[in-house]
Formats: sequence, structure tokens, C-alpha cells
Amino acid sequence: MGVMRTKSIEQSIRETDEPEFQLKKKLTALDLTVFGIGVIIGAGIFTLTGRAAADYAGPSIAISFVLAAICCGLAALCYAEFASTVPVSGSAYTFSYASLGELVAWIIGWDLLLELMLGASVVAQGWSQYATLFLGKLDITVPASVAPGSHFDLPAFVLILVLTALIAIGIKESLRVNLVLVGVKLFIVLFVIVAGISFVSTSNYSPFIPPAKAGESVDGLAAPLVQVLFGLEPTTYGILGIVSGASIVFFAYIGFDVVATTAEEAKNPQRDLPIGIIASLVICTVLYVATTLVITGMVPYSEIDPKAALASAFESVGKPGYATLIAAGAVAGLMTVVMTLIIGATRVTFAMARDWLLPRSLARTHPKTGTPIRLTLMIGTAVALIASLTPIGKLEEMVNIGTLSAFALVSLAVPVLRSRRPDLERAFRVPFSPVLPVAAALISVYLMINLSVETWLRFLIWMAIGFVIYFTYGVRRSRLAMGKDDNHPAEQEETTSS
Ligand code: ALA
Repeated sequence: MGVMRTKSIEQSIRETDEPEFQLKKKLTALDLTVFGIGVIIGAGIFTLTGRAAADYAGPSIAISFVLAAICCGLAALCYAEFASTVPVSGSAYTFSYASLGELVAWIIGWDLLLELMLGASVVAQGWSQYATLFLGKLDITVPASVAPGSHFDLPAFVLILVLTALIAIGIKESLRVNLVLVGVKLFIVLFVIVAGISFVSTSNYSPFIPPAKAGESVDGLAAPLVQVLFGLEPTTYGILGIVSGASIVFFAYIGFDVVATTAEEAKNPQRDLPIGIIASLVICTVLYVATTLVITGMVPYSEIDPKAALASAFESVGKPGYATLIAAGAVAGLMTVVMTLIIGATRVTFAMARDWLLPRSLARTHPKTGTPIRLTLMIGTAVALIASLTPIGKLEEMVNIGTLSAFALVSLAVPVLRSRRPDLERAFRVPFSPVLPVAAALISVYLMINLSVETWLRFLIWMAIGFVIYFTYGVRRSRLAMGKDDNHPAEQEETTSS
């Protein structure tokens, strides 16, 4: 069966040496950790925290963050094992090509594109809102017809085009800009924690887990799938509120998997990728939990601003200057997230094109910059259009479902690859396999069914489009289908006859 064909790992690694398609190997463990933090801390903590605390979990949103971190942590271990075994660009897509076959690889690649392109769009929209607010403080008004929330979000559009140009010029250069912006972002988050702690009133922590109450009834499509499947009554707060909160704030952790997409550009991927993935996730978890404890301690949960919780908390305790500083930091911070997500999307598509599952000319790198320029411009333009033309608030859940589905598949792929290729050197191994990988997959699926029916429908449409492309193009044209794998008889014939 064609779609079950797997590509040998040796073959994947060897292909990265073809000069025409080569990426430069420049990144260190520190670069990767910074890169990870740069993409993880973003719209999630700056905007979603407030909404999730106010509407779902109250102060216990801190527990939601821990739950989401456990889900991501388990998946991160699986990503780390894969990245240390198959150090090739394309992240989960490439890992699964080597273990679960071409069709699953295509599905994962397609999921990742959803995650990365829509993720970049969501964060660009968030950036645009903060930037407009901030420009307003400087007496610069963005005309209403092109402001965020209008038919065409000009700030988001311009931001994405500028970042795309930067990425096309070179990855090391973009990471340098990243480093400065990540520094600003970390400073702002630490500032919120340190400056906020003295305003915490412990009375705001009780009750820590607000009692469950019947939620507003939502129409069929907006209800979480889990409610429709099991006929549950909608509730907010309480234990279920913590879980719903987790499936929303999960967005705040998205991005650590993007570190794995840069595998080929790492100097020492076997050692550095697991460090980069796990270190960035741990650092962000600590910062998130601390930030949410401070914010829910500063403001009673029912009064938290669902849009700009961090800045508003300081306004509510009489520190508007701090609020402006935080807004400025968010503008800088969200920019790095958009950039990194676009880099991730180009690298996944790059890997798919290099396997000829997409037109192979897309995988050509520019000899000077060492980056796939054409592909970068295409992805950047697509993201710019999605971000500027889609209404705000429509894409977040799609990003979560795309990511969680990739997590589930990658986690299951770990034990599969171990049994298929026990001989491979694994610089990093997930402990207690297969228990932990299977747990990671189950938790991911559980969070997925907490997303709305509407999101599931959109996700199924996205997958259907992916299947059409695969079965009309990739299935016959892929490098493996064309017999260009050295494990494949056709190529062996070619070699012997020449
Ligand atoms: N984790 C990223 C954010 O919160 C996507 O913006």
C-alpha cells in the first residue's frame, strides 16, 4: 500500500546534504531556547488568561495552566526524542514520515500548517490591537476603515509583510532581532510578577476554585464536542471549568514544537533540540503560573478584564503608567511570536516540498541567504491575507485543534518508531514508554473534545482539503512514489543500470 510507505531515516538525513536544498547549520542550544520562549510567550498570556480566568476558572486558572503544561510537557518529551533521533527540518511531519508512513506524515504536516499559519494570524491580530492602543496613546490614530476589527486589518497586514522580508533575508539575522524582543518580553512578564506581588490580596484567592454553576446555554455548534457526545450540561467554574480553561490556555504554550522545525539549522541537534524544547517549556510554565497567581490575586476574578488582563490589573490598582509599559512590551513581544510561527510554517512546507509531496521547486534555497525565499514569500503573503481579512476571535480554537491532533499522532509515533527501528541512536529517550506517550495522546484527545462542534467541523473541512491534495498530487508524485528512495527497487535499478 503506497500510503503506508515510510521513508528511511538515513534517507531523510542524507537528503539534507544535497547542496541545492541545504539550510545553514548555525543555531546553538541557547538560540533554540530563546527561539522557543520567543514563540511560546504571546497572545496566550497577554490576552487569553483574562478571558479564561473571568469566564471559566477564576483563580484556579493557575491549575488550568499546570494541566495544559502537563499535556504539553508529555508531548514535548515525545518531540524531544524524535528530534534527537531524526534531526531533519519539518518537525513532527518528518518524524512521522519515518515511522507511521506517508499518509500520516502528510496529515501531520497539514495539521502543522493549520497550527502555524493560523497561529501567526491570531497573534498578528492581537498585536494589531495592542499596537493600535499604543499608537493611540501617542496620539496617532489608525483610520477606522483599516483598524483591527474592520474589514481589513492594515497593521496586522503590514507587520506580517515586514517580518516575512526579515525571515527571507536569513534565519540567523531574524533570530538576532528575536533575541532583543524576547528580552523585552521576558522583562515585561517578570515586571508584572515582581511589581504585582505587593498588590496581591489573599482574599481574592478564596474561593480558589469557584463553585461550579450552570453555564449559559450555547447553541449546538458552539458547544464543546464533549457535551454533545456525552449529553453533559454546560457548566462554568468548578473542576470542569478548570479543564475548559486548560483547553483554552493551551494556546499559550503553542510553539515549543516549532523549535523542532529548525532541527537542520542546529549545530548539534541531537543534544541541543531536547534542551531547547524542554527548557523553553519549563521556563514558560513557571512564568505563566506566577503571572496568573499575581493577576488573580490583584483583581477579584469576576472583575478581570477579559481583553488586556495584565495591563488592566495595574490600572485597577492605580498604576496606569505600568499599564502603558506593559502594553508597549506586548507590542514587542507579540511580534516575535508571529515571526517564529511564520518560520515554522515555511520549514514544514519546505520539508514537504523536498519530499515532492508539494511542488519540489518550493524547496530550493537561495545560495546567498541559505533560506527558501520563494516559499517564505508565499507563506508570508497567505498569512498576511488571513490575518487582515478574518474577523478577530474566529481562529484560536482551530489553532488548538491542529496542534493537539499533531501532538496525539507524534506521541503515538514514539513507541512505533522504537519497535520498528530499535537500532537507531536516541540521544534522548522518553521515560516509561509506551505509558507516557499513550498518556500524552489521550490527554491531547481529551482537550480536543473540549473544543466546540463548530471547530471540529472546520477542522474536518481542512482535513478534507488536505486529503484531496494528497490523493490528487502527492500520492503519485512524492519522492518515494517516484522511486527516488534508495530502499526502493526503482532507484536501485537505475543505479545498477548506470
Ligand atoms: N503560544 C503563543 C501565544 O500565546 C502562540 O501567543
